[in-house]
Amino acid sequence: MAGETVVLGQKVLAPDAAPAPASTFFIFGASGDLTQRLLLPSLYNLANEGVLSDDFAIIGVDRVEQSEEAYRAYLTEATKGLPGSCDVGGTTWSWLISRIGYIAGDFEDPATYGRIRERLEQRAGQTGNAVFYLAVAPRFFAAISEQLGAADLLKEAEGAFRHIVVEKPFGTDLPSARALNKRLLTVADERQIYRIDHFLGKETVQNMMALRFGNGIFEPIWSKEYIDHIQITAAETVTVEKRGRFYDATGALRDMVPNHMFQLLAMTAMEPPNSFDADAVRTEKTKVIEAIRHMKPSDAIGAAVRGQYRAGIVNGQAVKDYRAEQDVAPDSRTETYVALKCFVDSWRWNGVPFYVRTGKALSARRTEIVIQFKRAPGVLFRHLPTALKPNVMVIHVQPDEGVSLRFAAKVPGRKVRLSEVQMDFKYTDYFKAAPSTGYETLIYDCLCGDPTLFQRADTIEAGWEAVEPIIDAVAGGEDEVQFYSAGSSGPAMSDVMLAQDGFQWLSLERNRAP
Ligand code: BG6
Repeated sequence: MAGETVVLGQKVLAPDAAPAPASTFFIFGASGDLTQRLLLPSLYNLANEGVLSDDFAIIGVDRVEQSEEAYRAYLTEATKGLPGSCDVGGTTWSWLISRIGYIAGDFEDPATYGRIRERLEQRAGQTGNAVFYLAVAPRFFAAISEQLGAADLLKEAEGAFRHIVVEKPFGTDLPSARALNKRLLTVADERQIYRIDHFLGKETVQNMMALRFGNGIFEPIWSKEYIDHIQITAAETVTVEKRGRFYDATGALRDMVPNHMFQLLAMTAMEPPNSFDADAVRTEKTKVIEAIRHMKPSDAIGAAVRGQYRAGIVNGQAVKDYRAEQDVAPDSRTETYVALKCFVDSWRWNGVPFYVRTGKALSARRTEIVIQFKRAPGVLFRHLPTALKPNVMVIHVQPDEGVSLRFAAKVPGRKVRLSEVQMDFKYTDYFKAAPSTGYETLIYDCLCGDPTLFQRADTIEAGWEAVEPIIDAVAGGEDEVQFYSAGSSGPAMSDVMLAQDGFQWLSLERNRAP
């Protein structure tokens, strides 16, 4: 969040971020999908905003033997086909492409790192600052970092920075996440390691802090005294697509919960930090994740519903059974949907359930946080045919970013009758956001040395620790995966889980209104 200011009440959000310090941005996995689809377009958008230094360079590193020219041509071609805003004929693209180089080499061969060092030394007039972005398969995260360490490339001398960016998945369970942290921390300091959770790059997620701590009216009622329960949803319409190999070994729980979903939960439940200092913010978030109640594997079964999609229709398109998808085992028990009931054992949240759900091939794409407040005492309105509904606040993370609030109002007329109404704030009504992939802030912050929006080692481990009992229950074959039709709102058991507590998920199929 370095260098940003917000001009409230104006139609345009004025970015006044200073250019990031000069540096060399090495991308491991230079020919991969992430590089084309997200990193390059994000760097393009940053260049367009004018926040990259004139002395910035990108060096792709990958096994493919090719010349720098061929690599630049490959990127231009790949980017042309992307939906989005890179104008490959324009001046920003020429600015960017002229700063792109390439090093061919095996990630496990020390000679590759010799070439990287040479390249860094050759970059006349630059500062020695370097970012090593690991856009590679997770099995290379530690190996590349260790090679960088062995080649002395992570040593920060004379004020230069050396940062490593690690993509997700960060481990597959608690022991593997711990082992990965240990290996990374042997070659680099915690402050040099930038563990990405791209949900933290989303504007609305960052807006949680502005909403909660920049306003006087929400915080006093943001606790067990006034809040009944909280629902956190990340519903997707996409299927597993071509990611079967990764996804079938991973599942919705590991893919989304300890990272993205718990980050949303932490933003919702954290105490106000003392400052915007990276560690002040990250410590408060980590405290929340650490306070998620650990279940016994036997309790985990009742507190989690795992679902898998069957054939159905999503957005008018036929979707086949998950088990018939490419690279998915025909008898797979992997979940494509998971719903959990969590408690945060802190003074503020004692007894308030946090229901978390995420899934693929659902009826709507919707990421949102729903705060359901306690009902007003109905004494005055007991003569009405229907009971008062509780107030609900929805933070729309995506799409249609914004915040809405449902409350009761009197229907005009001589008789007292109440109706639900809603106030609705939409980002697009106030602010004109620049085109974005969601990675821009994260890359810019990493270039500026601001790790606020990145995960710390202890945060990641706390997330895994909280889901470990469910992983164990699944591994022990103790739970059943529930089927749901593609295009529905998930397995019926997930509704039952809330109904048992007297609640109901906010429908995925509604329009925006809560
Ligand atoms: C990724 C998961 O981290 O997040 C995907 O691996 C998921 O399975 C994606 O689809 C969701 O991100 P977004 O930004 O599209 O909501």
